[in-house]
Formats: sequence, structure tokens, C-alpha cells
Amino acid sequence: MKLNPQDFVSMKGSTPIPMLTAYTCPVARSVEEAGIPIVLVGDTVGMVEMGFDSTRNVTIEHMEYHIGAVRRGAKNTHIIGDLPYGTDDAPDIALTSARRLLQAGADSVKLEGPNTQVIRHLVSHNIPVVGHTGLLPQTAKSFKQVGRTQEEAKQIMNDAQAIQDAGAFMVVIEHIPYALAGEITKGLSIPTIGIGAGPDCDGQVLVINDALGLGDYWPPFSKQYAYVSKTVLQVAREFSQEVESMEFPNNIIQFTGTNGR
Ligand code: KIV
Repeated sequence: MKLNPQDFVSMKGSTPIPMLTAYTCPVARSVEEAGIPIVLVGDTVGMVEMGFDSTRNVTIEHMEYHIGAVRRGAKNTHIIGDLPYGTDDAPDIALTSARRLLQAGADSVKLEGPNTQVIRHLVSHNIPVVGHTGLLPQTAKSFKQVGRTQEEAKQIMNDAQAIQDAGAFMVVIEHIPYALAGEITKGLSIPTIGIGAGPDCDGQVLVINDALGLGDYWPPFSKQYAYVSKTVLQVAREFSQEVESMEFPNNIIQFTGTNGR
């Protein structure tokens, strides 16, 4: 059963919330089958799937394409669609962009930073919003941890509070000191979802490619549960050798599986 924003708020403080990103239909299907209640179609797609150096290259059309694919794979899972760089600059622009993501299949949208005017505007038009504070990849100059000075920590705390006050039902907090994430989590009534923010958040999110070990760089705070890139390499090598030696397809017994192929 698909969970709604209020369900996630009710989980705060009692049930840890696992969130994964997904960008494609088959991955979304497995993520739903595993019982993950909330999936983020993040603009990280630009870096981990499309080969860009920054999430800033991602467009609203890219997001619509990936949200559509994820929705087809995960029909009963809450999907957050990320508003890409430049599509949430002003309340009306953000509303048009958010409606496009919902039309593509998202249940809620996420935006980076304490853009409270935009959050209020979306919420007043019945669009559920997830905030994002700490490291903000769309505008950050580097991917280093933030919130280490007292001044920065205070700013992030204030931003998290402002995001909640503007009406967001959840907030992602990225790459900040664990103690600060714990303090923010304690002070808010909406769930915090950490990435590189330690164990004291209400939930955790991982970029699926990082968890799969699919790619060539994984942030130090992520965990690789598999090494899919190595599997791809092995399969490609084996296939290549078998074609060259004519072992494939000669030694293959014709397969007629349940999908009729
Ligand atoms: O775009 C994304 O995938 C994100 C996660 C890093 C939280 O914002």
C-alpha cells in the first residue's frame, strides 16, 4: 500500500524510514518488492547515470522521463521527484515544474535549500514537499562536509526549521556532522532523512548506484552492498570471449521461459 506524507510524519521517532533513489523501471520494481516505502528520483541521475559532472545539467524533461520509468516499476511506492536546478527559482515557475513531475508519476517533490516562499506556494496548491538542507549539490562549490563551524551549523538548523515551518513534510539532510543532524532531528516534528549525516536521523537515504557499487566513484559515507560494475565487466568479457570462440550461441539450449522468449 502506498504511504502518504502523513504516514511518514507518523513514523518519526518510532519507525526508521529507509529511502533509496531509483531512476529506471527494473530497479524500481526490485526496490518496491523489497518493501522500501519511499523512493527518490533524484537529480543525482545526471551524475550517476548520465555521466555529467554536476546535477545542474539535469532538465525537467530528464526528470519526467525517469519518474515515468520508476512509476511503471513501482506502482505502490511513494515517489519523490527532484526539482532540477533552475526549475524552482520562483513560486510560479516551481508550481509549473512540480505539476509536470506529478503528472509524470511523482507523489511529492523535493527542492534544495530554505526556499520558503516556493515551499509555501507549492503546499498551498496541495503539492507535498520534501526539503533538503546541509550540503546542497545544485549550488555547492565542493562536496565537502558542511556545518562544521558554529555559524554554519546555526544556519543549517535555522534552514531546517524554516523548511518545516513552510510546510514540508520531510527533510533530507546531507553530509553534516552527526551531532548536528541529531540536534536537528530532535528539534523538528517532521522526519529527517540523512545521507552522510549519521545514525540519529529518522531515516536514511542512499543513492542506488552507490549501494549497488555501480559506477566508479562512491562517496565515503555510502555503503556498497554489491559490486555491480565488476559483474558487468565480467559478463561483458565472458560474452566477448564466447562470441569470438563461437561458444555462444552454439552451446545454448533454446530457452522458452515464462516470458515466452
Ligand atoms: O538527488 C539525489 O539523489 C539526492 C540525494 C543525494 C539525497 O538529493
